[in-house]
Amino acid sequence: KNIKKELNMKKILITRRLLRACEEKASKIFDAKLNGNDELYSQSKLIELSQGCDAILTSITDKMDKDTINKLPDSIKAISNFAVGFGNIDLEAAKDRNIIVTNTPDVLTDATAEIAMLLILGAARRASEGIEYAKNNNWKWSADFLIGKQLTGARLGVLGMGRIGRAVAKLAKAFGMIINYHNRSKLSPELEDGAIYHDSIKSLFSVSDFLSINCPATKETVNIINKETLKYFPTGAIITNSARGDMIDDEAMLDALDRRKIYAVGLDVYKGEPNLNPGYLKHKSAFILPHLGSATKETRTAMANLAIDNLDEFFNTGQCRNKVN
Ligand code: DGY
Repeated sequence: KNIKKELNMKKILITRRLLRACEEKASKIFDAKLNGNDELYSQSKLIELSQGCDAILTSITDKMDKDTINKLPDSIKAISNFAVGFGNIDLEAAKDRNIIVTNTPDVLTDATAEIAMLLILGAARRASEGIEYAKNNNWKWSADFLIGKQLTGARLGVLGMGRIGRAVAKLAKAFGMIINYHNRSKLSPELEDGAIYHDSIKSLFSVSDFLSINCPATKETVNIINKETLKYFPTGAIITNSARGDMIDDEAMLDALDRRKIYAVGLDVYKGEPNLNPGYLKHKSAFILPHLGSATKETRTAMANLAIDNLDEFFNTGQCRNKVN
């Protein structure tokens, strides 16, 4: 500790446990305060622990709202989020206090796209029901047992054609799907890679046998899947979400599942995590995972290393290429 002080190492609070090798890396570069028990800090505890620190390395479970940010000590100059998404942080409030916020793009693109494919496959092929039957030894093969939907030749709508959306498109293409997308702006032909652009969600949803949600959660995208927009889909469409729960109005979705307007849903993220809207439990066609998008050893290691490097870059140069505010 004293050596670190003498070396004038920056002091950082790491709010959640990281993989061990990453914590070791952080402790080599910084005077790092770790969370050995991986406790979920309350607002007051987080503020108390940040006293005397120069930066905080946060996770998506830390609600860095305006009130929390305003109560941070003046010594805090950076918040490095261990995630590509940063909906848990009030960027404006941080900016007003001269605190930079950084994220971890690119390194989790492939892992998240893989989960998006798992959702598409799991929802289409009735994986939740199949797993139940197999575990209970109470099934017998028949020509029409657990018939699902095939991906080959089906139209996939990608909502949000950023890094992750494009990676999903690439994988889905290998399954023989026809790719359509909506994005704030049309991509270059090179990035589109044959995908068909739609300038409105209405146009995209109306050709989506499957929809993969891959856009960020913003004021514009909150509840973008709602009672009205669900009408645009072909009957029997499948909707999957590997981005953020905010995008789906759950009551409207449950109603659409009840009516079989929507055939199945695949969710890796949902509102109120970890508390799933109990309405989904009634639906065998709901294939639900507990926010596993980036959960591979390679990706979680790369994310943590990048979150650490972001702080190192900022303290060495005053800038950071992954600054988001
Ligand atoms: C992200 O990076 O935004 C993921 O959701 C974290 O797991």
